[in-house]
Order: sequence, then C-alpha cells, then structure tokens
Amino acid sequence: MSVVKINVLTVAPEMREEIERRFAGRAGLVETAEGFEGFDLLRPVEGLDRYMVVTKWRSEEDFQRWTESRQFQQGHAQAAQDRPAGHGHGHGHGGPAAMGSELWSFDVVQSAAPKSAEG
Ligand code: HEM
Repeated sequence: MSVVKINVLTVAPEMREEIERRFAGRAGLVETAEGFEGFDLLRPVEGLDRYMVVTKWRSEEDFQRWTESRQFQQGHAQAAQDRPAGHGHGHGHGGPAAMGSELWSFDVVQSAAPKSAEG
C-alpha cells in the first residue's frame, strides 16, 4: 500500500518568494528514487500559513531509503547550508528558508482517478 509523507514547512511571509524560488530550482533528484510516486508543493492560500511538501511512495521502506540517500542530501543542500543553530531563519543567501518543519505520515486507504465519460 502506498504511503503519503508530508513535510510541513513554516515559512515567514517575507520568505515565501525565497522558498518557492528554491523549489523552482530544486535538484529534481527525487524523481529518480526507487518507489517514488509523486510530489506536490502546496502554497497556503487561505488562513493557514504553512507550505506542504506532499510526497507519495510505494512503501514506508522506499521513503526511508530515500531520506537516507545522497539524492535526499543533495536535494536539501541549500536548506542545510548554515544549518548549525543560532542563525534563525535564512535571509535569502543560503541557509534554511523555513523556520520549522514537521513530518506527517499517512497510509493511503483509497484512491481514485478520473475516468473518461464514455465508458
Ligand atoms: C529538515 C526538514 C526539511 C526542510 C527544512 C526542508 C526544506 C526543503 C527546501 C527549502 C527544499 C528546496 C530545495 C533546497 O532548498 O535545497 C526542499 C526540497 C525537497 N524536499 Fe525538503 N525539507 C526537509 C525535509 C524533507 C522531508 C522529510 C521530505 C519528505 C516528505 C522532503 C521533501 C522534499 C522534496 C521531495 C524536495 C525536492 C527535492 C528534489 O527535487 O530532489 N523534505 N526541502
């Protein structure tokens, strides 16, 4: 059964552009990971202030393997820069653009996809 892993990023209003810019220039390595099934970056529109990085995997093991991979490290190279504590959030010159992150895990219980009207 597939699993959904959501990395929930707390982003200061002035860092929104920066975080989206980073994702626009992302490494694109996750696409090559074994068991990877999809990725969406969700921008909050109403009320909420956290971005969600929604990923879908064939299994828990595939996700775990990816988080331990070089591709994961490379894909987070910018985010990890200047990571050592004490710098607060980044200011657009490397370093984390998010003030915090939280990982949410789900099992996919049901899925549906559109089907054509003629059927
Ligand atoms: C310490 C926690 C994390 C933070 C602060 C973080 C933040 C970021 C940022 C800012 C980027 C844009 C690329 C860059 O700046 O280098 C990125 C890429 C990405 N993140 Fe995270 N992330 C974290 C952990 C995770 C986790 C646990 C997942 C799994 C759901 C995840 C999924 C992704 C994906 C799929 C990409 C695109 C990488 C690629 O294209 O290969 N991140 N992350």
